[in-house]
Amino acid sequence: MAILEATDIYLQIGGFHVLNGVSISVPHDSIVGIVGTNGAGKSSLFATISGQLPPSRGTVALEGRDITATPPRKRAQMGLGRTFQVPREFKDLTVLENMLAAAPRRYGETLRSVYFGFSSVRQEEKMLVEQARSWLRFLNLEQVAHRPAGGLSGGQKKLLELGRVLMLSPRCILLDEPFAGVNPVLIQGISEKIQNLNKSEGIAFVIIEHHLEAVTSLADYLYAMNEGLVIAEGSSEVVMNDPRVHNAYMGGVI
Ligand SMILES: Nc1ncnc2c1ncn2[C@@H]1O[C@H](COP(=O)(O)OP(=O)(O)OP(=O)(O)O)[C@@H](O)[C@H]1O
Ligand SMILES: [Mg+2]
Repeated sequence: MAILEATDIYLQIGGFHVLNGVSISVPHDSIVGIVGTNGAGKSSLFATISGQLPPSRGTVALEGRDITATPPRKRAQMGLGRTFQVPREFKDLTVLENMLAAAPRRYGETLRSVYFGFSSVRQEEKMLVEQARSWLRFLNLEQVAHRPAGGLSGGQKKLLELGRVLMLSPRCILLDEPFAGVNPVLIQGISEKIQNLNKSEGIAFVIIEHHLEAVTSLADYLYAMNEGLVIAEGSSEVVMNDPRVHNAYMGGVI
């Protein structure tokens, strides 16, 4: 059984057919890549999978459970995480505060307790701060934990996005262009973090990316989309050598 299965997804926005019957399957412990030209419908597919946009037809299943009608917050609680193409950090909050703000709601008091000192912090909240710090260490963001998130570099903002998702203990993470605007050295660093989380924590990833070299080297399985359809799927080698993929990219922006 796949951890995530989107089957025959259709989506219309303002009368425009954005998705025309897209199916993807994400095996447990795998890294799946999605490539395709601008406007192919990749981010829209993520929006239907994570619940921001309801598909007009088709189903989404997480660990075999139909979640097509489940609200986005509930999907996140069930273990489905996502990051956005444009990072959505709280610019004026510190990096650590951003991590705590992403935690499940029952820890809502934690942010306040950061200001009012740890002596009054309940054990549960202490654990949450420790968890946030531990993820920041893992993501090499510990040294900027107390800086406002708005001042981070593009790559660091991508890492913080990942960190915020990790606070929800996800089993499957959708990453929308994790390498966009990131310098080559940090691309390598982020790739290693993804691989590490996949191998040691067993987290499955679905990665939309225009940086073909990075995504093809990470992905166990690749989908290519064009005009709201999957036009090729298989190993990175098979997909990148498919003539339909070459045709789609002719004149398009990769
Ligand atoms: N909120 C919206 N309102 C109107 N049209 C939209 C909206 N969101 C997406 N679209 C349209 O749907 C199509 C697919 O967009 P989408 O953002 O999913 O593509 P994408 O594959 O993620 O592209 P990119 O690689 O540029 O991010 C495009 O034609 C886009 O203009
Ligand atoms: Mg997109």
